[in-house]
Amino acid sequence: MILVTGGAGFIGSNFVLDWLAGGDEPVVNLDKLTYAGNLANLASVQGDVRHTFVQGDIGDSALIDRLLAEHRPRAIVNFAAESHVDRSIHGAEDFIATNIVGTFRLLEAARGHWSQLPADDKAAFRFLHVSTDEVYGTLAPDAPAFTEEHVYEPNSPYSASKAASDHLVRAWRHTHGLPVLTTNCSNNYGPYHFPEKLIPLMIVNALAGKPLPIYGDGQQVRDWLYVTDHCSAIRRVLEAGRLGETYNIGGWNEKTNLAIVHTICDLLDELQPRADGQSYRTQITHVQDRPGHDRRYAIDARKIERELGWRPAETFDTGIRKTVGWYLANAGWVQNVQSGAYRDWVATQYGVGQGA
Ligand code: NAD
Ligand code: DAU
Repeated sequence: MILVTGGAGFIGSNFVLDWLAGGDEPVVNLDKLTYAGNLANLASVQGDVRHTFVQGDIGDSALIDRLLAEHRPRAIVNFAAESHVDRSIHGAEDFIATNIVGTFRLLEAARGHWSQLPADDKAAFRFLHVSTDEVYGTLAPDAPAFTEEHVYEPNSPYSASKAASDHLVRAWRHTHGLPVLTTNCSNNYGPYHFPEKLIPLMIVNALAGKPLPIYGDGQQVRDWLYVTDHCSAIRRVLEAGRLGETYNIGGWNEKTNLAIVHTICDLLDELQPRADGQSYRTQITHVQDRPGHDRRYAIDARKIERELGWRPAETFDTGIRKTVGWYLANAGWVQNVQSGAYRDWVATQYGVGQGA
């Protein structure tokens, strides 16, 4: 079995659902259930004996020790993090606590567990750390995309905390020999994406008749990847990645924020036109820019393709259509998130420290 951390968040829950859909290997899913953790994402595997949910913190060493001893996972996949750049600007404390201290404690627990395994299990064990392209900083418009050799130049408290965690993972390999893998992925989008991030925020605001807030001129560029493609890349790296290596993951899909929002508006105009016949584009409004806003990210994903044969299955056109369709079909999920009811539901349904 494998231990997934942060598996009630956006990417983690997609990963757990995909994992269980694709095979029978059980998952222990450890998640603190911060505001970003939502057990409703995992409703379809509630009661599935292959999925054990545990509410807890990656920084709780005693808990991690107990889980590792009890379940003896062959791998840990670490998604758990504070993930929102804007929140890190308003207050970085939780980012330092989870992304840096939490990763450190998880690494230490993993090392203790791994070092006592029998030789075969020890050789097979993996610690896969899920990281971001933001550790590389920002790119000039005509600069080549980030390769794995690009210097780390994080610019936000969020990306600095992720960069620190990547360095810890690297050091635990170099110094202690822990069998680690690190992935640095570009912007994800898809189902269960918390509507504080650009794409889901624009969809839900558009449908609610609210303004669509574009930071600054909207010409910032991100490289978008459909979330299940990120999940398949992680599975592939876990399966065949070379120990101690980092793999950049991206969608070959550079778009400006404004282009993204135009696409979302156009899809909504087609799929759920406004009652007054006007385009959702009329709701677009330019607001103050994000402090320290990185201008451009772009991933060179040739290494993972060359070494592991991975390429994204979705194009942006297919992925964004699926995503908008999912939000239209899952108004109840959005309503639960926006009202905060998903948190009450967790308490009633599972109690403290219990799970699916
Ligand atoms: P998310 O914010 O949606 O989910 C994070 C999850 O981690 C939540 O369920 C939360 O409850 C949990 N968590 C937070 N602190 C915890 C702690 N101390 N212990 C246990 N669980 C804790 O994030 P996401 O967008 O799904 O991102 C997942 C990972 O992927 C993060 O490490 C992020 O840095 C990385 N990443 C995200 C993107 C993206 O576009 N969203 C891209 C590249 C990499
Ligand atoms: O690149 C990978 C990263 O992508 C991940 O590591 C992060 O966890 C993830 O949150 C994401 O970071 P971004 O800052 O790129 O994502 P966000 O959705 O917050 O913003 C995307 C772009 O849209 C960014 O240029 C800021 C802009 N934006 C965002 C919001 C929420 C707006 O213009 N308006 C908005 O309201």
